[in-house]
Amino acid sequence: MKTLRIEPLGREVVVEDGASLMEAAARAGIRLPSSCRNGTCRACMCRLAAGDVRYRIEWPGLAAEEKRDGWVLPCVALAESDVTIEQPAATEQSTATRRSPSRGF
Ligand code: FES
Repeated sequence: MKTLRIEPLGREVVVEDGASLMEAAARAGIRLPSSCRNGTCRACMCRLAAGDVRYRIEWPGLAAEEKRDGWVLPCVALAESDVTIEQPAATEQSTATRRSPSRGF
């Protein structure tokens, strides 16, 4: 089990073994930008500020130089160590939107 830190939100979440960074964030109520969730569309692409990842799929949609520059695809990235990503578009789901609205009875 590893931890994932999401900046600039400043939240730290647990990454269970086998969970992608995006799944770990979602379990903690944090939404990262996403579309395909299978490593091809690049909608989720963000910077890895610290730590190491490996990929669930063989050819994630990143060029070698992008990987070298620290870009990652969190929807298919697995944490190899505690990691920090920089995703300014990450949003925290408030408890109000997670709960179904009360009807007053
Ligand atoms: S959501 Fe499409 S590459 Fe991550």
